[in-house]
Amino acid sequence: MLAACLRSLAFLAIAIGLASPAAAQKFEGLAQTPPMGWNSWNKFDCDIDEQLVRETADALVSTGLRDAGFVYVNLDDCWHGERDADGFIQPDPERFPSGMKALGDYIHARGLKFGIYSDAGEYTCQKRPGSQGYEYQDALQYARWGVDYLKYDWCYTGEGDAQRNPIEAYTTMRDAIHAAGRPMVFSICEWGENDPWTWGQDVGHLWRTTGDIINCWDCTVDHGTWKSYGIMQILDLQDGKRQAAGPGHWNDPDMLEFGNLATLAENRAHFAMWAMLASPLILGTDIRELDEAELAVLKNRALLDVALDPKGIQGYPIRKGDGLEVWVRPLEGGDFALAFLNRGNQPLSENYAWPEDGLKDDFSGFEVDFGSDAFNIRDVWSGADAGDTSAPLSVSVGARDVAIYRLSR
Ligand code: GAL
Repeated sequence: MLAACLRSLAFLAIAIGLASPAAAQKFEGLAQTPPMGWNSWNKFDCDIDEQLVRETADALVSTGLRDAGFVYVNLDDCWHGERDADGFIQPDPERFPSGMKALGDYIHARGLKFGIYSDAGEYTCQKRPGSQGYEYQDALQYARWGVDYLKYDWCYTGEGDAQRNPIEAYTTMRDAIHAAGRPMVFSICEWGENDPWTWGQDVGHLWRTTGDIINCWDCTVDHGTWKSYGIMQILDLQDGKRQAAGPGHWNDPDMLEFGNLATLAENRAHFAMWAMLASPLILGTDIRELDEAELAVLKNRALLDVALDPKGIQGYPIRKGDGLEVWVRPLEGGDFALAFLNRGNQPLSENYAWPEDGLKDDFSGFEVDFGSDAFNIRDVWSGADAGDTSAPLSVSVGARDVAIYRLSR
C-alpha cells in the first residue's frame, strides 16, 4: 500500500515536472571561448545592405578567416524596416529586398553564423524600432530567420527614475530567446553603465564594459551626452572586472577596430591586447580589403590559442607606468602569455628581468617561482624560440606595438 502510494506520488511529480515549462535561462554552451566574427557597425555605420553582408560572408571564407574561427556575421543597427500589421518586425525592404531568412540561409550555407541587433528601448540608437514590449515576438521572428546571435542595445530606455530596469530588460529578452527555442548568443550592450559584470553571467554570454570604441590609438571623443574611446582608454577601463569573465560569460571591451587603425603595429597591438583580455573578437573592418600582413595577424594560430585558451582566464597588467607595460595571462597546462605593450611613439628596448617574487594570481590560483621553475619562451608573432627564463629576456617593441610570448614548462 505504502509502496503503491509512493509510486503514484513519484508519477505525479514527474507529470507535473513535464507539464510545467522548463525554467527560462540563457542557452548554455554557446560561448565556451570568446565569440569571434564580424559586425557591421565600426566600419559601415548605417550604410549596410544584403550585398555587403553577402560579400563579407564570402570574404570570411576566401580569406581563411572563417576557418581560423571568425564565424559570426553580425548585422548591427539600421537593418530594420517597419513592423507588419501583426507587429512582426521586417527588414528595410530597399536594403534587404531578399529578406532576412534568405540572408541567414546564405550565411549558413557558407558554414557561418548569423547575428542581428536590437535594443531594449522604444527605438534603437539610430531610431529604428526597438524591442520594448515586443521581446517575445522579436525573438520568435529572429528564430524563424535562423539568427544565432543577438546584440541588444540600451538606447531610448527612458531617463532617471523612468528608466527601464536593466536586469529586468535583459532578462526579459533572455527569456524570450529561450521561449523562441533557438539557441542564440546573447550580447548585453548597456555600455557598462549598470555594472553588468555583477549580474550578466546568468543573463547573457558577454556584456560591454564601456562606451563605444573608435579607431584611434589614444584619445577620448566627447559627443556631449556620451563619449567614445580609443584603444588605450578602453584597455584602461577594464581594470577590476576580470573576476567576472570565464567560459560562457565574457567581459566585452567592444568590437575590434583592427584594420581601421593607422598602422599595422597599432592594429596588431590592439588585437593582441584583446586576446590577453579574453575578449570577444568581433572584427569591425571591411573584410574584403584586409591585406596579407593583416590576415597573417588575424590567423596567427599561436595568438588565437592565447585568445581562445580553454581556461578563459582574463589577463592583467603586472607593470604600468613609464616604459614597456607588462601583462600576464594564465593559460591551460600552467603556461602563460606575457605581453609587452609600448603605448608611446618611440621604440623601446629592455632586458626584462624575471620578477624576483615570481607571479601570483589569487583569482585563478596561477603561481610561478622563477627561481625554481624554468619556462621555455616562444615569440608569438614569429613563432621563434626565444630562450628560457634562466636569463633575462631581451625585448624590443616598436612604437604603438606589442611583443607577445607564450611560456611553457
Ligand atoms: C551603440 C553601440 C554601438 C552600436 C551603435 C549602433 O549604442 O554601443 O556598438 O551598436 O549603438 O547605433
